[in-house]
Amino acid sequence: MSKTILVTGGAGYVGSHCVLEFLQHNYNVIVVDNLVNAVKLENQEMPESLIRVERLANKKLEKYLTGDLKDQQFIDEIFANNHIDIVVHFAALKSVGESVAKPLEYYENNVSGTINLLKSMRKSKVTKLIFSSSATVYGDPEVLPLVETLPTGQTCTNPYGRSKHMVEVVLKDLCKSSPEWSVMSLRYFNPVGAHSSGDIGEDPQEIPNNLMPFVTQVAVGMRPELKIFGGDYNTPDGTGVRDYIHIEDLSNGHLKALEQITTELWKDFHPINLGTGRGYSVLEVISTFESANGVKIPYKIVDRRPGDVTELYADAKLANEKLGWTATRDMYDMCASAWKWQSKNPKGYKRD
Ligand code: UFG
Repeated sequence: MSKTILVTGGAGYVGSHCVLEFLQHNYNVIVVDNLVNAVKLENQEMPESLIRVERLANKKLEKYLTGDLKDQQFIDEIFANNHIDIVVHFAALKSVGESVAKPLEYYENNVSGTINLLKSMRKSKVTKLIFSSSATVYGDPEVLPLVETLPTGQTCTNPYGRSKHMVEVVLKDLCKSSPEWSVMSLRYFNPVGAHSSGDIGEDPQEIPNNLMPFVTQVAVGMRPELKIFGGDYNTPDGTGVRDYIHIEDLSNGHLKALEQITTELWKDFHPINLGTGRGYSVLEVISTFESANGVKIPYKIVDRRPGDVTELYADAKLANEKLGWTATRDMYDMCASAWKWQSKNPKGYKRD
């Protein structure tokens, strides 16, 4: 019988791509989202991203609910009224800069929200969780590649990163408290790109903080130029290096996690990197984008962005060994799919 998955934050960028993957692999999916980073058009019952996901999958969600993890009663009712096998938890605020200005909102949403979710899960004896964590938990690394056994939390540079670390601490303690729990904490590196259809993709509701959506908005003419934050890093071309991962590889990683979390092997807390193991500089991303898509990206090198680190890339071996997963798409695919989405949907999910 198909398993039922509760997906929190399922209308967002990573969430919507994963929901599509789950529907295509015969899972029943219940989505809850507070619409903080999603578009719901007038007279529609669901966010636009999920309407498109259903169309692409040719399958309906079991249920869509608008609501917030800060509301304990709301979450309790979801578990009381539905049979749920596994929870995949994406819902969180995710802007590094905003988190410095609004730490309480970040801790309340990301940490307290997760604790509420866990309390409802415990009450209903749902003890399988896949958590959307981040490479940011490693902070400013002393050694590369980043392997799961390295210390985390100590050098996080902002409240967003610390909130992800704090949730991991909570999850570890919870797993220690009872052998029932199976938790996978998937530490994403830098997810970019879009589904191959170009019908779903990343749609930041404000000025993008992240590189790829900024690049695509420059390419489509919404913004005049890209600012490269720092040209004097200790890297081959002076710009920051990150491990970018195609969103479809990321969603496939979640599928593998879902397929396995119910086995005994996954009892307890398991952090797993989802990255490619290969770093690209900002200038390499720009030149690949230009050659993949035949568009020019005007840019200017400006000061470093506070809190940025020089270089990050994953040791991706554990995901391969334990989940049988590796990233298969390269930077060319990431840039081509990001541009397909943006050029097909210049205003994202909004209609004019
Ligand atoms: N960059 C620019 N100009 C921009 C935006 C970014 O030059 O307008 C540069 C950054 O300085 C960095 C690189 O592009 O060198 C990537 O920056 P992003 O903002 O896209 O991503 P970050 O690596 O800063 O952070 C992202 C997510 C975090 C996550 C982290 C994990 O935003 O949520 O990856 O590695 F935790």
